[in-house]
Amino acid sequence: MAATTLRPMFSAQQIQQRIQEMGAQIDRDYPDGSLHLVCILKGACIFLADLARAIERDVVIDFMGISSYGRGTTTSGAVKVTKDLDLAVEGVDVLVVEDIVDTGITLNYLVNILQQRKPRSVRIAALLDKPERRLRPVKVTYVGFQIPDEFVVGYGLDFAERYRNLRDVCVLEGPQVA
Ligand code: IMP
Ligand code: MG
Repeated sequence: MAATTLRPMFSAQQIQQRIQEMGAQIDRDYPDGSLHLVCILKGACIFLADLARAIERDVVIDFMGISSYGRGTTTSGAVKVTKDLDLAVEGVDVLVVEDIVDTGITLNYLVNILQQRKPRSVRIAALLDKPERRLRPVKVTYVGFQIPDEFVVGYGLDFAERYRNLRDVCVLEGPQVA
């Protein structure tokens, strides 16, 4: 049986450089008003920590937990909120911070929930985007890197809760990933 391997896709240095650019863009795009960074647990926690510090303007940080069912085998895609925001978002700019956009089912649902709370705006910042895999439309305003349809881990992303602490983003290859 072939062994599991980690093939580097983006180095820690490449990730940091791209996040500095994203932070500068966000500073230019949101000159005033309250900006709420909404981190989607758990995968986006490391990206949030670096992106928040690449932004110079004032921000508020909040967290949301989401779990998705039916991914991969069905398009029905039920999504459940497992931890809601602590803060109200009415009238504020919301920037959802996500690790990766894959089918789009999670974010399509989440943006709908957030819109019902009457924020001033809702946008998405994602470190990674796999556009080939999309099943539901999602507008991702700030994308770190577009990637092909490969399963990646590290920098917050997991496989069965492992590998989140890798400094690089790596492609996970091996028999259990197929
Ligand atoms: P979707 O866009 O609703 O399909 O789901 C996105 C979520 O699936 C992300 O927040 C990740 O938790 C997970 N995910 C999708 N692709 C990958 C990957 O390549 N590695 C690790 N997690 C992934
Ligand atoms: Mg996630």
